[in-house]
Amino acid sequence: MIVYETKFSDLGKGYRGKVRDIYDFGRYLLLVTTDRVSAFDAVMPDPIPDKGFILNQISLYWFKKENNVPNHIITAEVSEFPPACQKYAPILEGRSVLVKKANPLPIECIVRGYLTGSALKEYKETGRVCDYRLPPGLVEGDALPEPLFTPATKARQGHDVNITYKEMVEILADRKLSEKIRDLSILIYKNASKIALKKGIIIADTKFEFGLVDGELTLIDELITPDSSRFWPLETYSPGGPQESLDKQYLRNYLISTGWNKNPPAPKLPKEIIVNLRKRYFEVMNRLLK
Ligand SMILES: Nc1ncnc2c1ncn2[C@@H]1O[C@H](COP(=O)(O)OP(=O)(O)OP(=O)(O)O)[C@@H](O)[C@H]1O
Ligand SMILES: [Mg+2]
Repeated sequence: MIVYETKFSDLGKGYRGKVRDIYDFGRYLLLVTTDRVSAFDAVMPDPIPDKGFILNQISLYWFKKENNVPNHIITAEVSEFPPACQKYAPILEGRSVLVKKANPLPIECIVRGYLTGSALKEYKETGRVCDYRLPPGLVEGDALPEPLFTPATKARQGHDVNITYKEMVEILADRKLSEKIRDLSILIYKNASKIALKKGIIIADTKFEFGLVDGELTLIDELITPDSSRFWPLETYSPGGPQESLDKQYLRNYLISTGWNKNPPAPKLPKEIIVNLRKRYFEVMNRLLK
């Protein structure tokens, strides 16, 4: 079943993210991961069949493994969702979770283990990536000497902006909390990277979101999925240029090749792109979950 958008009007007003439909149950949220895909902050008009299911399963896999910080998951069993949800069970099954409602911190916690994307661009121009001066001579795709914590603001509208650690501390107005989310982000990344590597996947970088639930720091949103991370198949890894990817980069590369100006509306996607992107997302799930 393809789920592009849900309209469960009897579950309340709801809120539509780029990828998730969210229904508010007071202290809880129902997060429905749809088959929508976004790139450059625009939602594509075509669904990627099964994508929502895949993202939800991958997130659940990591949430189960990660025990250094509480996470927002209450249950992924639809039968344990509030009674009003039950009639939507066939749509919700596999692609939705009931979570604790958090006050999201207005920060994207990005950890980078490899040189690519905006970090590569910055390194080439300045020899630096955010707060860090890096050794000279690194090439695209190289492993960084240490994973770097490179936060960004979480813009409600428009593009996220990279910030320094100091700017993050100012935004959060809390030095202890800042240290905690930085150290946790790096720890979660390192632990997950080891696991993924054994399964033939390099996690080049990834993004975490944290929130406060009754004042307690909590990992929220999605966790180390092909929407929130760059995944490279280990068997073809070869620094010195762009890498094969098992994530959204495949779609970004296609969109760049069309010359689309990145302003909505996004163009319709060719069948081939949908099929190949879906294959990549399945590949990640299969490698991780088996
Ligand atoms: N436990 C939670 N409490 C409160 N808000 C949450 C929780 N978990 C996730 N969210 C928020 O729900 C939204 C998830 O929806 P979605 O991923 O579609 O949003 P998006 O960030 O706009 O899209 P994209 O992932 O493409 O950037 C995010 O705004 C996220 O911060
Ligand atoms: Mg999101």
